[in-house]
Amino acid sequence: MGDKIAIIVHGGAGAWNLASARLVTAITACREAAQAGQQLLMAGGSALDAVETAVRLLEACPVLDAGRGSYPNRNGDIEMDALIMDGRTLDSGAVAAVQRIRYPISLARRVMQETKHALLVGAGAEAFADQIGFPRCETADLLVPEMETSPSAGPYGDTVGAVALDATGNLAVATSTGGMRRKMPGRVGDSPLVGAGGYADNRTAAVSATGHGELLMKIVISKQVCDFVAAGLTAQAASETAIRLLAERTGGTGGLITVDRFGQVGIAFNTAAMPYAFSLGDGKIVDGR
Ligand code: GLY
Repeated sequence: MGDKIAIIVHGGAGAWNLASARLVTAITACREAAQAGQQLLMAGGSALDAVETAVRLLEACPVLDAGRGSYPNRNGDIEMDALIMDGRTLDSGAVAAVQRIRYPISLARRVMQETKHALLVGAGAEAFADQIGFPRCETADLLVPEMETSPSAGPYGDTVGAVALDATGNLAVATSTGGMRRKMPGRVGDSPLVGAGGYADNRTAAVSATGHGELLMKIVISKQVCDFVAAGLTAQAASETAIRLLAERTGGTGGLITVDRFGQVGIAFNTAAMPYAFSLGDGKIVDGR
């Protein structure tokens, strides 16, 4: 049983304009998400509840590529992916290429808790949502016009995520995304894949990844960070080493947030920015990008 709590969230690594109001909005959303998670953890809530709550707030933020504000695909539809994982049991739940869902992370959690499966996609995932009475929305509710057309528009980020350690020593991760701008219909990235878009194991760490999905998958980056932690690296060193490996082996860009079983955090990215916020124990929220 640990006595530390920690939560860290990100709003997506990418080619953010460092002087943009959009980045300020993204950092504010990260602060609010981290604070909501911290309050929940301080009240004795679980790491799973904290990461789900935090990611729902990020999914609601229109400048982040998840939930409302997701990039549309080539057909103008919004297809989203999300993953949640419990470091205590290694149970996970995920959805991929789902449409007309405002909070995909919560549907992923229902997959974990209410089915015998770990990943549901497309029409099957949507049928499951309808079967359990999960709230649906219209594509128009998710579309943010600025993200639709202009090649220079958009948040320049990709994906949101949260990792947390609760007072009982349990770790959890949640990752959610609208994927790449103008992706092929049916394209699924790293985010809903266990080990790629996220991983959580109470024996090591919880990790959420962001960046170029096709490349992040190649090195199963989130599990790689946990393996580095198992080998003795700190959360920060493990995150930095994995980002270096991503660049060396794939030429890829992206970012990682990590919390280990001792409540130490790691933050690494090789893009222009990655808005994030974290808190340790009952300490104040720290943000950055
Ligand atoms: N990292 C999110 C994606 O590539 O879909």
